[in-house]
Amino acid sequence: MLQSRDVAVVCLWTLSRAFCLAWAPDLIVNPKKSELGSLHYALNNSDHCQRRLIVSSLKLWSVSVEDVLGQLPVDPVKENYVRKVKESIFSHVYPTPFSSETRLVAFSEDVLEGLLDLDSSVAHSSDFLQFVSGSKTISGFVPLAHRYGGHQFGVWAGQLGDGRAHLIATYVNRFGERWELQLKGSGKTPYSRNGDGRAVLRSSVREFLCSEAMYYLGIPTSRAASLVLSSDAVWRDQFYNGNVKKERGAVVLRVAKSWFRIGSLEMLSNSGEYSLLKKLVDFIIKEHFPSINTSDPHRVLAFFSTVVSQTADLIARWMSVGFAHGVCNTDNFSLLSITIDYGPFGFMEKYDADYIPNTSDDEGRYRIGNQANVGMYNLNKLLLALNPLLDDRQKQLASAVLAGFPNLYYSRFTELFRSKLGLLGDNEDDLALIASLLNLMEDTGADFTMSFRQLSEITLEQLARLSIPQDFWALHEINQHKDFSAWSSAYLQRLQRNPEDTDADRRQRMMRTNPRYVLRNWMAESAVLKAERNDFSEVRLLQRVLRQPFRRQKMAEVSGYSQKSPEWANRLKVSCSS
Ligand SMILES: *[C@@H]1O[C@H](CO)[C@@H](O)[C@H](O)[C@H]1NC(C)=O
Ligand SMILES: *[C@@H]1O[C@H](CO)[C@@H](O)[C@H](O)[C@H]1NC(C)=O
Ligand SMILES: *[C@@H]1O[C@H](CO)[C@@H](O)[C@H](O)[C@H]1NC(C)=O
Repeated sequence: MLQSRDVAVVCLWTLSRAFCLAWAPDLIVNPKKSELGSLHYALNNSDHCQRRLIVSSLKLWSVSVEDVLGQLPVDPVKENYVRKVKESIFSHVYPTPFSSETRLVAFSEDVLEGLLDLDSSVAHSSDFLQFVSGSKTISGFVPLAHRYGGHQFGVWAGQLGDGRAHLIATYVNRFGERWELQLKGSGKTPYSRNGDGRAVLRSSVREFLCSEAMYYLGIPTSRAASLVLSSDAVWRDQFYNGNVKKERGAVVLRVAKSWFRIGSLEMLSNSGEYSLLKKLVDFIIKEHFPSINTSDPHRVLAFFSTVVSQTADLIARWMSVGFAHGVCNTDNFSLLSITIDYGPFGFMEKYDADYIPNTSDDEGRYRIGNQANVGMYNLNKLLLALNPLLDDRQKQLASAVLAGFPNLYYSRFTELFRSKLGLLGDNEDDLALIASLLNLMEDTGADFTMSFRQLSEITLEQLARLSIPQDFWALHEINQHKDFSAWSSAYLQRLQRNPEDTDADRRQRMMRTNPRYVLRNWMAESAVLKAERNDFSEVRLLQRVLRQPFRRQKMAEVSGYSQKSPEWANRLKVSCSS
């Protein structure tokens, strides 16, 4: 276990990163909150130090001693076999270590330092590798798999649960934020059903890269701390065509404030476990919705209405970057309205409201243009799950809240696209201006990301003359439309309503809103193909580039990340089995 009497060194990072202190180890190994509190106090009151407390060895790092999740019931059965679980939120179950050697192929410095108070040098230690590959756990914390249910593709699927994920720690960082650390691909649990509990390299690379990329795009999301690769054989039928192939098992350490989903509450409601349902809802409100009064008799209604508006916000944000989640089942929808469970997601390239990232989703249930509808469907399932906790009047009010979802969504959507166009203030014709631009894109198949980006980069003078620079390829696509010049004039007129605004300011504003780089499928695929040959250079390049998606970067340009997708990408299918 990760405990030691070694001499501990805690670095107090100053701006110059030079000022290190040695501490007595017994203070640091398993520190109590109160001790950490006084340490924080000392730090915050020192003029010399930045407010940072970062440890340079995992031995010094400790999960919170009083874990709040301990307030929730855990399945008394300790054996690890697939079963129906009752009256519990979690099951105790350890990750299954890989039998082959593992290697750390990528990690996020920002997650380690920013969320987990770990100096990135820790990532190179063997303790860390063992921790993030599931072969060693932190003493005092028994890993957990969560029991939940869900509606999948419109049908109640019964008990699902973490079938290959383990919550391996919760951590309260130096800012007092509580983070839940979850391994994905770490072996079987009581919820594995027919699965083997593993995840393969390609799906793990995609999750690792995309969750971090979404964060830097400013979209609420789970984070990814590390990516570990093993040589354990995992058998997958990648395209469900009977072609089973041997792949290698990988595991991602994912981090979120909470992993509870709509399906977490549906499970309890559907099995009539109402007192546990109430307990879990109260727990979630207390831990994650600080603005709601925990003794208010209308708190569940307040909770529901917060989830409704945050979900509207999340989906509008997805749309603003052309992100299609791919599997919007109620068990993949977070109660904190963060993006979770990256599977067959995709960023739309040529604008198409019917864009479907999961190529086996023949019905197009989760096409990009249907995400808001599906969000509302999922919120309705949430409301049904909460019904046992609401009286008749509250049920009526909650239905009215749900009915307000389309308006919340459209107003958020309009706000986001208004800022994508650099428009200040609001004007009743804005939605029409936005919609007609999207129509032009749809008709011409112009690239969504780069059309907005190049509108941010072009000067108004150039636009007025429609003298589009040679390399503004997406605007050349859209300019093939006979109505583009009329649209441009309307746009220029709208901008003139703010005479104090300058063109330089507009471009600045728009370049901070419209990314130059998103994780296009071909980019992820190219990184995956190299990774399968043990070349992780492109994983790392993408990781670096996507940290600053709004800034033009030389390596990204050289790699073609702001160019039209290469020809071979048109034949790409997103692999569904993961
Ligand atoms: C919280 O709700 C209770 C019950 O309605 C009320 O007595 C209390 O004043 C409220 N607290 C705050 C801070 O509003
Ligand atoms: C999301 O839900 C699907 C089915 O509902 C489940 O099989 C899958 O594990 C979840 N997706 C991911 C990528 O975790
Ligand atoms: C993709 O869609 C198909 C058809 O609806 C579905 O069976 C499959 O589970 C989806 N893939 C994922 C990863 O959810």
